[in-house]
Amino acid sequence: MKILKALASATILAGCMFGSASAAGLVVGFSQIGSESGWRAAETTLTKQQAEKRGVDLKFADAQQKQENQIKALRSFIAQKVDAIFVAPVVATGWDDVLGEAKEAEIPVFLLDRTVDSSKDLYMTAVTSDLVHEGKVAGEWLAKTVGDKACNIVELQGTTGSSPAIDRKKGFEEGIGGHANLKIIRSQTGDFTRTKGKEVMESFLKAEDGGKNICALYAHNDDMAVGAIQAIKEAGLKPGTDILVVSIDAVPDIFLAMAAGEANATVELTPNMAGPAFDALEAFKKDGTLPPKWIQTESKLYTQADDPKAVYELKKGLGY
Ligand code: AHR
Repeated sequence: MKILKALASATILAGCMFGSASAAGLVVGFSQIGSESGWRAAETTLTKQQAEKRGVDLKFADAQQKQENQIKALRSFIAQKVDAIFVAPVVATGWDDVLGEAKEAEIPVFLLDRTVDSSKDLYMTAVTSDLVHEGKVAGEWLAKTVGDKACNIVELQGTTGSSPAIDRKKGFEEGIGGHANLKIIRSQTGDFTRTKGKEVMESFLKAEDGGKNICALYAHNDDMAVGAIQAIKEAGLKPGTDILVVSIDAVPDIFLAMAAGEANATVELTPNMAGPAFDALEAFKKDGTLPPKWIQTESKLYTQADDPKAVYELKKGLGY
């Protein structure tokens, strides 16, 4: 009995000295961008699931696409003295002040899926994919698929000023770089939404001889591609054949389009950004371990050759 008691108090003492390996009992504020895409909705679902699984009290705030709402949410989390803040920053600039306030309050900030232009000292880590690489993979796939043929490309950009819109554009241009036969003839934002993707694609089709002058569409996310596919069909053309379609995210619906031959390729972005962020938070709370400034998630290319129907079934169970 005495030994058991001694062991128990030693365990408690160790717990006090080094903290606990779990995040149970922690309060985390999460400022989400909104629900512009299927991918975003899945990220929200998975973050909530991860928090519940780990016994974290998650304070969720939906910014409805506005940075000012995110800044307000962060200030409210700071006032509530949360243990950590997760934020998916809608745009890349304008974060210095509020991140400085979180630092001052000694509240670690974890960036999810998008990066900011602020100094790395102002946040603990960023859990993101290599956003430039994603665009590059899409561009290289297109260059390889088209070969020597002349190809006019239209581009649907993500939210203006967001890191994925900036980086995926840059990466794609790198991917098609050195192929003079590939030209981006139109590029406009579709705000990462299906509705805008469709609307903007309609205007591209109208401006380009009903689409006859367009060989490929590059969309910064699958949702815009799905909207654009609808516009292409309504214009009397065959998406996936008359106009090649390449995009990013790998949400279930793009695999349905791929199975129907209406989309050609997508680059996967995992919606589970919260898992690695919670792991890093747990390690930090346990013994002060600092994570690397960038926790990189994988980017995988899928094409019609990858059994899109089977991938669709698999994906549907993963937060979507
Ligand atoms: O930041 C990640 C991007 O934001 C996803 O690719 C897009 O679907 C989302 O809305």
